[in-house]
Amino acid sequence: MNRLWLSLILAAPALASAAPSSRVAWTAEQLNFVKGGNAQKGRELAATCTACHGEIGISETPDYPSLAGQLPTYLFKQLQDYADGSRDNPLMAGIAKGLGKQDMADLSAWFASLPPPPTSYGKETLKSAEALVKQGDNERLLVPCEVCHGNNGEGQKLDIPALAGQQAEYLKATLTAFKDGSRHNDVYGKMRLIAKTLTEKEVEELSVYYRSLK
Ligand code: HEC
Ligand code: HEC
Repeated sequence: MNRLWLSLILAAPALASAAPSSRVAWTAEQLNFVKGGNAQKGRELAATCTACHGEIGISETPDYPSLAGQLPTYLFKQLQDYADGSRDNPLMAGIAKGLGKQDMADLSAWFASLPPPPTSYGKETLKSAEALVKQGDNERLLVPCEVCHGNNGEGQKLDIPALAGQQAEYLKATLTAFKDGSRHNDVYGKMRLIAKTLTEKEVEELSVYYRSLK
């Protein structure tokens, strides 16, 4: 099942948007650079991040994302995207522009090394969200979220983020931004294409679902 979906994704050029949406290219060199990030140095640098992203990378503000346990390559890509304007956010752009590439790799290594946010906020039985996550929707050609984001919302590969335990308000805001195109740093526009087919109610439910996913 998952393999079929994956081959569909790979075989569908219609999914691709023309313009490059991020300047981060995962060459072996780039990957090794991020893998070589120094978590201890990152820990020191992170003192400037904790007011918003939490002492241990778990945000206490509903619309600020947690960073703990996230894939280091995803974190690095986002910091680069903020710095070069591929992802629009005045606040994070200002912060990311002040970081060198090495700082970004170190910070990514540090946050990735922390335990991910807890998900025991009270499991909501959101059957409709669960169906989208596990089965997708053939009528809308909607790929199940878990094909990419993992069976437990843990993310995978280079740039597919973990979603489990993420702040629901943030998830909702960022999915809405993909939907209306104001977030456009997803390579080939895949998340924009997916988010566009979702209703507002589905965006809301999926956000709560992933927040409480065990
Ligand atoms: C004043 C508050 C504030 C500070 C300080 C701050 N951030 Fe952020 N950060 C945010 C907000 C708000 C967002 C969500 C922005 C958006 O919607 O694009 C964000 C988003 C991010 C993201 C993207 C997360 C994701 O899931 O896509 C990363 C990575 C990040 N910040 C890293 C950092 C690092 C590293 C530092 C310290 C060097 C830092 N931030 C400091 C508020 C802050
Ligand atoms: C084809 C693979 C794929 C599928 C299917 C997919 N995603 Fe994504 N998603 C991605 C990638 C890649 C990104 C990171 C984009 C970037 O580089 O910023 C992402 C980013 C996100 C983010 C932003 C997370 C953050 O921390 O900012 C959310 C939320 C999200 N996806 C939710 C979903 C939901 C809900 C579904 C199912 C309806 C879904 N995704 C299906 C690949 C996918």
